[in-house]
Amino acid sequence: MGNNLIPLRIAGVGYSVPDAVITNDDLTKLYDTSDEWIYTRTGIKERRVVSGEENAVDLGFVAAKNALEKAKMLPEDIDLIIAASSAPPDLYPAIACHIQARLGISTQVPAFDITAACTGLIYALSIAKAYIASGMYKNILLVATDNNSRLVNWEDRSTSILFGDGAGAMVVTASEDGVDDVIAIDIKSDGSIGDLIELSFDGKNCPLVEQYEPKPQGIRMNGKGVYAFVAKILPHYVENLITNAGMKAEDIDYLIPHQANIRIIQAVQERLGYSDDKVVTNIKYYGNTSAASIPLALAESVEKGNVKLGTTAVLCGFGAGMTWGGAIVRLREGIC
Ligand code: UT7
Repeated sequence: MGNNLIPLRIAGVGYSVPDAVITNDDLTKLYDTSDEWIYTRTGIKERRVVSGEENAVDLGFVAAKNALEKAKMLPEDIDLIIAASSAPPDLYPAIACHIQARLGISTQVPAFDITAACTGLIYALSIAKAYIASGMYKNILLVATDNNSRLVNWEDRSTSILFGDGAGAMVVTASEDGVDDVIAIDIKSDGSIGDLIELSFDGKNCPLVEQYEPKPQGIRMNGKGVYAFVAKILPHYVENLITNAGMKAEDIDYLIPHQANIRIIQAVQERLGYSDDKVVTNIKYYGNTSAASIPLALAESVEKGNVKLGTTAVLCGFGAGMTWGGAIVRLREGIC
């Protein structure tokens, strides 16, 4: 971006997960599976799920409050809200509008959702970067949240083992010291392979016209197809992102990837030549939380001290669409 564009500062990050824990052993009550099968193929031991009326809006609200607190900002400081979700609890109102109301943010502030599945946070950050760069908005709240446990088919053992619920949030603002915390960002999509992961919400025709057979409910995924596609493109893609930014893998302190499958994470890790302490993984405890996955991994690892601040990280993700993307970011002191 040119010199007259306003740089972005990541001011705060936050996360939230529901209390209910479902272990791999618990899943053996639903279908024929085992902890050993799930753990060796995915790296997942347990996941969190919403219960009762709790949903992605509730999780997103808590993550947003945490991120605002870390950013030392009040809800009234925010001038744009963007929420990213693979599947919001309501198609409308948007999650962002729900969160605006819960935080008591002025009606003068626009709020909207984007759909880029598990790449949602990177897409949202890219949008926020352009808005801040242009001077159109200054303090932007990004919320990435999903309640996959409501959307999986709990009879499908190859898909329902993978997913969990959670939320992550990020407050970004116009940087006042000239330093841009988004060193590089890139987003991609390929709609021609959209049938690799699908979740239909197609309703019914008007009763006065010809009817049709609705698509099956619940998340449908070609696991092998997704795995093959991502394992082929992602390591190379992340390496290129770094090279195109004029950097080397060793210039970056951490890899914070989408938590979909430990073997995919390891493929990226291997390509970058990173030791385990440079790679953030929490898939063991949360499974795949879709849009929430990257900001949840970021905020939790900083909070736990596994990621030190005053460092840089490469974020990368992929998901339904298919979408994928990556960002190289600065993690300043005080963001969490
Ligand atoms: O953000 C969303 C992105 N999605 C992903 O990243 C998914 C990527 N894909 C994967 O992670 C893997 O493809 C899975 C973990 C989903 C599946 O692993 P796989 O090695 O591709 O297994 P598979 O689907 O080929 O199934 C192998 C066998 C089958 O049995 P047969 O036909 O060989 O007898 C399945 O029926 O494993 C069986 N199977 C299971 N066995 C025990 C499938 N699910 C289970 C299960 N427990 N939960």
